Amino acid sequence: MPLAEGGPAAAPPARALRWDGARLELLDQTRLPDREIWLTPAGAEEVAVAIERLAVRGAPNIGIAAAYGLAMEVTATPGLGTLEAAWERLRTSRPTAVNLGWAVDRVRAAALAAGPARMAAAAREQAQAIHAWEDEASALLCAAGAGLLRDLVPAREPVRVLTHCNTGALATGGTGSALGVIAELARHRAVEVLACETRPLLQGARLTAWELGRLGIPHALLVDGAAAGLIARGEVDAVIVGCDRVAANGDTANKVGTYAHALAAGAAGIPFLVAGPTSSIDPHIAHGDDIAIEERDAREVTHVAGSPTAPLGTQARNPAFDVTPARLITALVTERGVARPVEPRTVGALVPVAEPVA
Ligand code: MRU
Repeated sequence: MPLAEGGPAAAPPARALRWDGARLELLDQTRLPDREIWLTPAGAEEVAVAIERLAVRGAPNIGIAAAYGLAMEVTATPGLGTLEAAWERLRTSRPTAVNLGWAVDRVRAAALAAGPARMAAAAREQAQAIHAWEDEASALLCAAGAGLLRDLVPAREPVRVLTHCNTGALATGGTGSALGVIAELARHRAVEVLACETRPLLQGARLTAWELGRLGIPHALLVDGAAAGLIARGEVDAVIVGCDRVAANGDTANKVGTYAHALAAGAAGIPFLVAGPTSSIDPHIAHGDDIAIEERDAREVTHVAGSPTAPLGTQARNPAFDVTPARLITALVTERGVARPVEPRTVGALVPVAEPVA
């Protein structure tokens, strides 16, 4: 297949977020790949808006950004009222990724436990601890996932891996989840990546292709609808994706289009892997039917870059995520190990998640 050769392997690792102890900088992912523009949100409201409009995105990354946003807010205006209002605003800025609530709940708890005099410092410390925890979790799960892929696809070089959306450094505190696994595998084996463009907001085209280019990993972009046909024709060895919320039974919500890839992988008998930190597991949700699926503005479907692609007035549905049933998932890869088969017993063995300790 025709493959982009990738970019300069020496490019520094992508970073989505910077924190200097007081100031938060967020790479505006809506402007990539054309422009690298860093936002400097003043507080929780601006962080929440950045999350809503997907300037900041990716499940672990929005948790980290929200944690810093909450810490900044109570630093600027310490007090219980500020803490509760900012926590609520950030927690509800997007509904599907559990990492968001996971992170701001921890910052709130640390701030409350510290008491009024140390509230702001405790919130900042907890946000930094969450960031460091996600960074380390990312490294661990990437190593585990690369090892599993080597075992599941033993004979072939290059290994042909298909992925969806963006799950690299831009989406996490560290090197990534699914895309981080692919990058780790590429350090040991020749890899070719098929990156789905990921309609409607093109995270695969704009962000994954950008990251793969920087990493120097050969890749080709395809429209989402091409994936099943290529899988059926034997052109893919494994599929690996990230996750926004994993229910207690292993049913997994991820970017819309993921379920179709899982069906195709299952029909072709190739591995379908989900990779993510345990902060993406929600032990309080029994199965995928109960996961809230974000419905976004219909205009994201009827327009591309501000120009209409459908007759004016056309109705559109825009669910941002779908749920892949556990039975279609070969393995769930986390920093605490691999659930395989994916079922309540094996997922339950990975939770409760480790608490970031400031
Ligand atoms: O709407 P997005 O771009 O935030 O969706 C992101 C995804 O669906 C990712 O696959 C998921 O968050 C995992 S990121 C490691």
